[in-house]
Amino acid sequence: MSFENLKVATTDGVRWITVNRPDKLNALSTATIAELDRAIDEAAHDDDVIAVVITGAGDKAFVAGADISELHALGPIEAKEFALRGQAVFARIERLRKPVVAAVNGYALGGGCELAMACHLRVATANAVFGQPEVKLGLIPGYAGTQRLPRLVGRGRALEILTTGRNVGAEEAERIGLVNRVCEPVALTQAVKELLAPILANGPQAVVSCLEAVLHGLDMSFEDGCLLEATLFGVGAASAEMKEGTAAFLEKRKPNFRRR
Ligand code: COA
Repeated sequence: MSFENLKVATTDGVRWITVNRPDKLNALSTATIAELDRAIDEAAHDDDVIAVVITGAGDKAFVAGADISELHALGPIEAKEFALRGQAVFARIERLRKPVVAAVNGYALGGGCELAMACHLRVATANAVFGQPEVKLGLIPGYAGTQRLPRLVGRGRALEILTTGRNVGAEEAERIGLVNRVCEPVALTQAVKELLAPILANGPQAVVSCLEAVLHGLDMSFEDGCLLEATLFGVGAASAEMKEGTAAFLEKRKPNFRRR
């Protein structure tokens, strides 16, 4: 089935999902969120897809937030459902067992900032603008911004960004750990490829286990997180990947990790 609000293409095993409503600065309508869910599901189940990149159409915005025209009409029960639906889709992105990179090419406000934060890694263009401006609309973030932002930048910085609703430029975003890399707009695709290249050259199961250990571990006690790590370490020892990686080191050659 095709998409109305997304463009989806695969290059060298990397599935590029582009939110495609440039006339509305790629605002996330309910239909767009539903399509994003489907696109992530397809990426999860397609063995030819080894990584995912999420970006926005046009040169102005990644995603300028949830669609404000839909928010205006919501009652309390509907608003809660609206938030839970978006949270579930973003959680699926975060829990995807393949690396997900946000290629942030402009405004990443509200739901756009939350979408970028749900991705595992973020590359931003120098003109990108992050922020959670919901308070300016008399709202709070609904797609887990109050939870992921402090986990990424710390409580003090998150509380300031959330309560002022101010914009955070790309340079500051990099400095505070909100993005991994900043590049010139023309270099975005290349920067994403350069970030992904070493990850995709590593043992694929080991990479997934790192994602799992960090993302689940952060929601556990330190002790339980360490137990999860030890369990994944143990499971890894049963893999051909681990035998190949360690054998390659001992034989002074490059490892040859086969994809599943
Ligand atoms: N929801 C719905 N429509 C949106 C939108 C959003 N979050 N963000 C932008 N748009 C629409 C605008 O309404 C406008 O549509 P129109 O041409 O039919 O009037 C179009 O996208 C272009 O936006 P515009 O505001 O004219 O662009 P700008 O360059 O002047 O300003 C922003 C850019 C990002 C500063 C501004 O659009 C903005 O503040 N957007 C809302 C950001 C926000 O609060 N997000 C959190 C939502 S919870």
